[in-house]
Amino acid sequence: MSKTIVAVDGPAGSGKSSVSKQAARQLGFGYLDTGAGYRALTKTALDAGIDLATVGEQDLVVLFDYSISTEPDNYWVKVGDKDLTDAIRSQEVELNVSKVAAQPKVRSFMRQITRSLAANCPNEGIIVEGRDITTVVMPDAKVRVLLTASEEVRLGRRSLDLPGNGSLEAQLSDRDKKDSKVVDFLNPAPGVTLLDTTELDFEQSVTALVDLINH
Ligand code: DC
Repeated sequence: MSKTIVAVDGPAGSGKSSVSKQAARQLGFGYLDTGAGYRALTKTALDAGIDLATVGEQDLVVLFDYSISTEPDNYWVKVGDKDLTDAIRSQEVELNVSKVAAQPKVRSFMRQITRSLAANCPNEGIIVEGRDITTVVMPDAKVRVLLTASEEVRLGRRSLDLPGNGSLEAQLSDRDKKDSKVVDFLNPAPGVTLLDTTELDFEQSVTALVDLINH
């Protein structure tokens, strides 16, 4: 039987990562966080002193020896033998990742990596989560979902993730603005199911996603 691919898009703070991960656990599926790739590439370029505007011009195969776990209960991100699991969540990466993710050569490189990681995942299914997954990366996925929530709710969820971050509000809407110039992740493309979690708590959001996958 061929693998069940589930594609989940959504804006920052929509809960797409935690909801996708928990749904994958419940289904025995793999889970792929595609934002981690853009974050790890940004961190690698910063550490190497590369001008971020030129990341797309670099030899990415040489620069970026990337690996990521697809097990929902054992999440890690590496470049070469360097573990970047925590480093990719830093403020430095948060503030710079949009510059890297906006470059077409970076996006096409990351698209290949994502497709190959999903194809090689050993589970019977995988939930692949990230901005352009339902439209550009996995347009043929069996289930395609745009997970969203009102801006107010998204800001609230994000501040629970990162307590004590005063400029969070500005950062989040700023990043969504920058990212939305590259990818339309706020409106579902034809054939993509909109899952609005504004009125749902975490467990209800997970159940709604699992139901969509099972039906
Ligand atoms: O989902 P995230 O916050 O970890 O994403 C990090 C950055 O990467 C964010 O600027 C959006 C971008 N991204 C993207 O352009 N395409 C994806 N498939 C995933 C993330």
